[in-house]
Amino acid sequence: MDGWGANLFKLLDPPQHTQLRTLAGGPFAPNAVEALKDTITAVVDELLVDLPEEFDVMERLATPLPVRVLGDMIGIPEKDQEFFTSWSSEIARVLELGAETPQELAEACARAIGQCTEYFLKLLEERRDSGADDLISQLARAEQEIEDMSMAEVAAVCVLLIIPGLDTFANLIGNGAVLFARHPQALAQLAEDPESADGFLDEVLRLEPPTHASWRVAIEPIELHGETIAAGDVVLLILAAANRDERHFPDPDAFSPGVHGRAHLSFGRGIHYCMGDNLSRLMAKEALTGLAKRVSSLKLQDEKIDLKPGIWLHGPAKLPVLTEARPTRQPA
Ligand code: HEM
Repeated sequence: MDGWGANLFKLLDPPQHTQLRTLAGGPFAPNAVEALKDTITAVVDELLVDLPEEFDVMERLATPLPVRVLGDMIGIPEKDQEFFTSWSSEIARVLELGAETPQELAEACARAIGQCTEYFLKLLEERRDSGADDLISQLARAEQEIEDMSMAEVAAVCVLLIIPGLDTFANLIGNGAVLFARHPQALAQLAEDPESADGFLDEVLRLEPPTHASWRVAIEPIELHGETIAAGDVVLLILAAANRDERHFPDPDAFSPGVHGRAHLSFGRGIHYCMGDNLSRLMAKEALTGLAKRVSSLKLQDEKIDLKPGIWLHGPAKLPVLTEARPTRQPA
């Protein structure tokens, strides 16, 4: 592959994939993520302060939370973080099947990835000799220390440290809020017992996966369920369908928090398994329990949800809700 996609390791095979994934992996390791807990709680508190009765979950919480947390984690100055929200939605548009031609979508996507990469190249250059310990400065130094590593590759790693986590994460929170509205007992349960958040979260991920699908190109012929996939065939993997496979999930369409564990495929599987799973889980737990602690009821203002277009990303574009504040407990 060449052009803008050449260094996006999501699209690469080993050994280049392994090298770049290792370089980017540190901040996503469980310990590193756990260390971000207080920061995440503080951002959630800030976003949910003085919550009015009516608000849009996407605008108020789901969209700003990941850009703030990932931006601070990487070392992107706060004033620049909002650029990433619009680059992310431009890049996500290439996944849409809509009125625009694929060529136009591909060009818009390439432009946004180009701008994002240029931004990181400039920041890496500025931080190269800074001696600071933010992630961008560390990566800028790594480029000098690792043989055969180019600044373009490091900038592409930076793109993957933030862009894949924005729309996906926002969808998770939006889909979680929709399930709160449809199953009010889940909202009450989470407020009462924050420990139940893991089971709730995995069931949101299974039933309403933020990314519906992925794809692979077969490198050799494969026999599967009596069909032959030829070398070179593009295979569309519908993760959302696998998550409702009745051979693995009895009563697959029912919302059953705490029943199916992590058996879903919403973070993928294999060498390209999502790098942001730990971080997404922690941010989502803080965001959804934060919401459940503050509101005693949450209703959709419109039962017909305004979903993002396309078949890949699955989540609300807007999610106006009507809530009632939970009475604050007086000390005994
Ligand atoms: C709820 C939120 C998220 C969901 C549902 C999700 C889903 C996925 C899925 C399904 C894959 C596998 C794609 C494939 O196999 O083709 C993937 C890969 C990836 N995700 Fe996530 N993701 C989420 C959040 C994040 C976050 C917060 C980050 C961090 C910025 C992130 C970074 C990545 C990267 C870098 C890969 C590619 C890994 C590789 O190719 O080795 N994701 N994600």
